[in-house]
Amino acid sequence: MDILRRMAEYRSEEENLKWEGTFSEYVELLKERPWVAQSAHSRVYNMIKDAGVEEKNGKKQYLFFKNQLFGLEEPLEKLVEEYFHPAARRLDVKKRILLLMGPVSGGKSTLVTMMKRGMEAYSRTDRGAVYAIKGCPMHEDPLHLIPHALREDFQKEYGIRIEGNLSPLNLMRLEKEFDGQIENVPVERIFFSEDKRVGIGTFSPSDPKSQDIADLTGSLDFSTIAEYGSESDPRAYRFDGELNKANRGMMEFQEMLKCDEKFLWHLLSLTQEGNFKAGRFALISADEMIVAHTNETEYRSFISNRKNEALHSRIIVMPIPYNLQVTQEEKIYEKLISESDVAGVHIAPHTLKIAAMFTILTRLKEPKRKDIDLIKKMRLYDGETVEGFNGADLQELKTEYDDEGMNGIDPRYVINRISSTIIRKEVSSINALDVLRSLKEGLDQHASITKDVKEAYLGYISLARREFDDMAKKEVQKAFVYSYEESAKTLMDNYLDNVEAYCHKSKLRDPLTGEEMTPDEKLMRSIEEQIGISENAKKAFREEILIRISTYARKGKRFDYQSHDRLREAIQKKLFADLKDVVKITTSSKTPDEQQLKKMNEVIARLIDEHGYNTSSANELLKYVGSLLNR
Ligand SMILES: Nc1ncnc2c1ncn2[C@@H]1O[C@H](COP(=O)(O)OP(=O)(O)OP(=O)(O)O)[C@@H](O)[C@H]1O
Ligand SMILES: [Mg+2]
Repeated sequence: MDILRRMAEYRSEEENLKWEGTFSEYVELLKERPWVAQSAHSRVYNMIKDAGVEEKNGKKQYLFFKNQLFGLEEPLEKLVEEYFHPAARRLDVKKRILLLMGPVSGGKSTLVTMMKRGMEAYSRTDRGAVYAIKGCPMHEDPLHLIPHALREDFQKEYGIRIEGNLSPLNLMRLEKEFDGQIENVPVERIFFSEDKRVGIGTFSPSDPKSQDIADLTGSLDFSTIAEYGSESDPRAYRFDGELNKANRGMMEFQEMLKCDEKFLWHLLSLTQEGNFKAGRFALISADEMIVAHTNETEYRSFISNRKNEALHSRIIVMPIPYNLQVTQEEKIYEKLISESDVAGVHIAPHTLKIAAMFTILTRLKEPKRKDIDLIKKMRLYDGETVEGFNGADLQELKTEYDDEGMNGIDPRYVINRISSTIIRKEVSSINALDVLRSLKEGLDQHASITKDVKEAYLGYISLARREFDDMAKKEVQKAFVYSYEESAKTLMDNYLDNVEAYCHKSKLRDPLTGEEMTPDEKLMRSIEEQIGISENAKKAFREEILIRISTYARKGKRFDYQSHDRLREAIQKKLFADLKDVVKITTSSKTPDEQQLKKMNEVIARLIDEHGYNTSSANELLKYVGSLLNR
């Protein structure tokens, strides 16, 4: 990509989007594109809706959030349906401050940032276009120029409702600069930009003693008072507080509950009445969405204070819990790692999954139902099928607690542990065991963890470790069986010959000597036992296999190693059991023989080519599985 050319294109795109005209031209434009006069809340909602909605299992997924926020479909759906949508339709929730409440590093800031960046981009599209009185520091809505007495008629003709009063500054400009001629007031298209302080504001509390309300509502410009003669001349006032600048768009209120009350009251009147007080002026109308965030502890102590009752009723709280799905958590880690400077390091397969399992276990609550354990619950939540449970069970589990996901381990902690593992190990690859070890060590340094919680977390580390052992064995098994594909085929043919003889009560012929032999019961059982077929069930199983073979034959299909799932599993397991000895010897002996070494290298090559390992992680895996088998 030629970056200089792209920059020039970008500039000209922006140039093309610009529009400037008089108020009367703007009103003409509204005839064709009435939606540009929408409220800030409505614009936010349409931005989200326009990005697309997918429906999966009766649940809505808003694509707007898709690439950045994982596993939060349900809270986001609630947020859209219970806040953004009704607020866009001017229902009562619009008059309340939106407060996102959730645990640390649960994605609240990410959500707000996405909305801000989204608004910047949306204001550059046709559907999201915004127009304002030119030269107004608050980018005031041009329709405020229309006197109240005429608004009803305007609404009848244009279908647009006007809310809010013309600001003191523009009222004065109208008289002094335009002689009261509303039609001539200039209007321009604006583009939201946090950097340029257009339509997007951020307020974060600092030291309450030094923080000034001016940060929110602007301040008097003393240098110009002499020029204009009075403090109450709006031209002597700088409308440059965050509330002013965020007009028409949105404002983020960080750590709202840490803030001094006097700031909160301003917000309240703004959300409730749609206006706020600044300097010695009449109330200033503003149209903006206010989003604040906080954590649960802070919120609880806030509402437990009677003094805050009035505030409380004017806030709408939306929970943003942690993600509770293992596969989604993995995606979060992948995202965070790709953004970090450890992105180049090889991470062995399953590493992030195992870390995610530990994390999710810390977030889940023990099921109240007795027939299910935490690991199964974790799998169900992740959309896996768990034998004996279905969708109804999942729904039931989800309703057992209404505050699940509000505590547990946060994603940043895990990423920090992964980075520190990488830095300390000074190698180009890490695996699940490295990470589990590091997560465990980190618990000692984790400030906010009590002894009991730590105990529980250590238990989850063991659970995750056990899951990893299983996965590691399976992975090596698969790779081995592949190298032994020939052996698998032979073993199966052998088994089938015996089964056939058994069912037909006939004899087998030894391929070498031609001697007659009775079916090899020991061989058949050694395979069947691998998948738990009991002595009583063996006859039925063998007959089923024969039927399957003849069905295949009738259809002219070849019955092979892959044709029967359970049989395949049994054969693989049996082979692996036989191979155990080989693995044990080759991974533990210092001088494996040449034949064994050749096989080992095949397995390693397989792990690298097909399963995403590199040389060092594949060797580590084999050694580990070898040690597991030696136990
Ligand atoms: N569900 C999630 N999906 C995607 N990324 C997530 C999710 N939860 C957390 N993250 C990532 O974790 C990091 C921390 O999240 P963020 O800063 O948004 O959390 P927060 O809720 O604002 O936390 P705090 O209370 O500490 O301010 C971010 O990089 C964010 O992208
Ligand atoms: Mg944050």
